[in-house]
Amino acid sequence: MNKIAIICVDDDPAILSSLEMEIKTIFGNSYLIELAENGDDAIELCTELLAESIEIALVISDYIMPKMTGDKLLTHIHKLSPKTVKIMLTGQANIDSIGQAIRYANLYRYISKPWKTDDFRLTVKEAVNSYLLELKINEHADKLEKTNISLIKLNQDKNEFLGIAAHDLKNPLSAIKGWAEMIVEDYDDMPKSEVIEISNLILNSSRQMFELIRNLLDVNAIESGNMNSELSKVDILPTVEDVIRHHSERAKIKNIILQFHQKNNQYNAFVDKNTVHQILDNLISNAVKYSPYGKHIDICICKSEKMICCEIKDEGQGLSELDQKKLFKKFTRLTPKPTGHEHSNGLGLFIVKKLVEAMHGNVWCKSEIGKGTSFFVEFPLFNSQVI
Ligand SMILES: Nc1ncnc2c1ncn2[C@@H]1O[C@H](COP(=O)(O)OP(=O)(O)OP(=O)(O)O)[C@@H](O)[C@H]1O
Ligand SMILES: [Mg+2]
Repeated sequence: MNKIAIICVDDDPAILSSLEMEIKTIFGNSYLIELAENGDDAIELCTELLAESIEIALVISDYIMPKMTGDKLLTHIHKLSPKTVKIMLTGQANIDSIGQAIRYANLYRYISKPWKTDDFRLTVKEAVNSYLLELKINEHADKLEKTNISLIKLNQDKNEFLGIAAHDLKNPLSAIKGWAEMIVEDYDDMPKSEVIEISNLILNSSRQMFELIRNLLDVNAIESGNMNSELSKVDILPTVEDVIRHHSERAKIKNIILQFHQKNNQYNAFVDKNTVHQILDNLISNAVKYSPYGKHIDICICKSEKMICCEIKDEGQGLSELDQKKLFKKFTRLTPKPTGHEHSNGLGLFIVKKLVEAMHGNVWCKSEIGKGTSFFVEFPLFNSQVI
């Protein structure tokens, strides 16, 4: 931080040097002491100091000076630097001029000339202390203001989050309610096959709600810093195969061919096994969810010097540049819509990104409208882990 300045203004050089000595006696070399012999010089000095970002704690000005009186000068300085504390020295106490200075320059005190040393020193010390106190109060007020702004933003986010979550839970819940009412009211006249069909609808909707709640809990854990990832040496090949197996049934229904390409028998990464599962599950389920019927999805795994990379490549409708910019944000449902009535909460990729980052990995996407989308996810190779 720059030194803080104290300025003394008097047209009598002898008084100026005794003011300087007094201030040096009180504060030693802690402050930059500047002197001016008239109002114009004092204003120029203040302007220069402020331009150099040097704060002015105190201006002590004589009242009677040629051209510009002390009250006018202090009023001017007050406009330039409202925080600066101002003291006026008066030969004879002129009530009007002191009144003006108090009103327009926020005068702190006036000191009669000749001053008593003890009184003078005490007043100057108190004036500088009051400046420093004000500085601290302003700093705290700034911090409070910033905290307040971020709290308001957090509260808005939370409200938006709750609004979307409540809305997304309401739809499947009201469907469940309607179907359950149908069974309760018409059970006697319903064939067993219809009861099973409706029960399956109930089951699907409750799965949808369950998944949303699981995602919301994940988001909450991520945002409150309670995510538990235990990194260790993991061969991720079986995990990739497991996730692919898990999604092949759904892909088959859509006549989509899932193909896996790998060169090695082992891909040892420094990761958390369950988290890798969750990440790949999200990316592969998206590829199946957003691919039209009858297309191919290729999943490749490869090693580089420091990372293991998985690519999930689909032949879906692709994402525009604008959509790509919005990817990985909370509650982002973009232009591509599920092709087989799957549900979509817009949380999967947000969670994926946070989980990948927590394991010091990377995730990104390349996409071309009409051609398809590739999601890439990289995990640190075991041995090259970032600690
Ligand atoms: N492979 C893909 N091809 C085309 N669009 C995609 C693909 N993956 C994601 N998207 C687009 O990105 C949006 C966000 O995906 P994200 O996985 O975050 O949410 P979601 O799939 O809508 O819901 P969920 O929370 O159930 O995952 C999707 O709504 C979709 O529009
Ligand atoms: Mg998804």
